[in-house]
Amino acid sequence: MSDGFVLPRTGSLKHPIRVAVMISGGGSGLAALLRYQATARTHQTVLVLADKADVGGLQHGIDVGVPSLGIPLPTEVEAKERRVAHERLVHAALEEHDIELVVLSGYMRILTPWFVSRWKGRLVNIHPSLLPDFPGAHAHRDVLAAGVDVTGCTVHLVDEGVDTGPILAQRRVDVHEGDDESALQERVKHVEHALYPETLDRLCSGQISL
Ligand code: GRF
Repeated sequence: MSDGFVLPRTGSLKHPIRVAVMISGGGSGLAALLRYQATARTHQTVLVLADKADVGGLQHGIDVGVPSLGIPLPTEVEAKERRVAHERLVHAALEEHDIELVVLSGYMRILTPWFVSRWKGRLVNIHPSLLPDFPGAHAHRDVLAAGVDVTGCTVHLVDEGVDTGPILAQRRVDVHEGDDESALQERVKHVEHALYPETLDRLCSGQISL
């Protein structure tokens, strides 16, 4: 069905898939995943990466003893080379930690085809809308502006587009009258915190095929 996707091997409780979680913010999704993985699962977070040194969510990884690093854009590199240079640093950290699956959880940078091609099938994202509706960085704002009654969240494999890769799971969330962006975001996050770990269970135990 989809070209070029190589899924992770089938993990087991004894030999779980080694996961890196990439974040840019508060990391409530990371915290939920770490809580879920406190019980043995077929996936285990062994690295947390952020795109800046001072990202608050890194603390969730530090609290449970998982190596948690901010890798900022290398400002010493010329501006037009900076994006790929940054991704090379990220890729090197992933390789150094023998990562098998990269879980984007509120990571706010768009990855280049160079990076995606190296991780295609082993790179997942959660997006706070029912894709293909409302892609992009302002899903909740766009949902409210459109006046729809139902939104939700989507877990998908990442391809070279923005929020376009094969969908692995979706869950609906009602929009309430009087919702503002922050109320809607909180209600959607609550559902994301269950959907993402459950979907990783399916992906890491060989229950997903393309
Ligand atoms: C989540 O809603 C996720 O869908 C979106 O960014 C948010 C991250 O929140 N991509 P947090 O940093 O995990 O609290």
